[in-house]
Amino acid sequence: MITVIDGPAGSGKSSTARAVADRLEIEYLDSGALYRAITLLYLQAHRNETAFFQLLHQKEISFCYRDQQFHIEIDGTPVTDHIRTPRVAEYVSKVASMPNVRAFVNRLMRKAVDDGVYIAEGRDLGTAVFPDAELKFYMSADIEERARRRYEERKPDNPGLTLEEVKQNIEQRDHSDASRKADPLKKAEDAIPIDTTNLSFEQQVDQICLHITNLM
Ligand code: C5P
Repeated sequence: MITVIDGPAGSGKSSTARAVADRLEIEYLDSGALYRAITLLYLQAHRNETAFFQLLHQKEISFCYRDQQFHIEIDGTPVTDHIRTPRVAEYVSKVASMPNVRAFVNRLMRKAVDDGVYIAEGRDLGTAVFPDAELKFYMSADIEERARRRYEERKPDNPGLTLEEVKQNIEQRDHSDASRKADPLKKAEDAIPIDTTNLSFEQQVDQICLHITNLM
């Protein structure tokens, strides 16, 4: 069984999905983290696409959710602490717009959720990756609120970061994610909309848990 949450950057998908996974003791899958890990390979290949695709097909990418964190390893080396930097944020939407990269990530995800109960979050899960998901949500919030949340989250590890930089990066990524040809950010017709601008975190989590437990 799979529940998906799609929505733009900073809408609260990750923290909500993790809290739901912990409360209901189900598995969690962070598709954005996979695109970010793959962006590390793109940067390692000095942004040369031929070298990048060679690396992508040579490397083993593994992931799991444990101790309230989504862990990713590339060839056995943990990269979880390296995927949230401003440099990765700058390039991830470009990398995620490549159809071959999307096909690669989609294969990884579909294989992972083959058995078990999952909550997964991303941009195109309800429309392209898991169109038959049992439950679909689309989370949104206004841009000021989303930028403020991301800034608070990233500031401790990136001391020079400004709120304006975070807002600009979110706006650029939203634009690129929603306008790309390959599986753009889009609400699935059958997704339940949740605007988190004025909802408390607990209210978001309660709403989703209620829907899932009704189906379990
Ligand atoms: O969710 P997060 O902000 O970590 O995602 C990073 C980027 O990965 C997004 O801006 C988007 O470009 C890409 N992404 C995507 N499709 C998904 C999840 C993330 O294109 N399903």
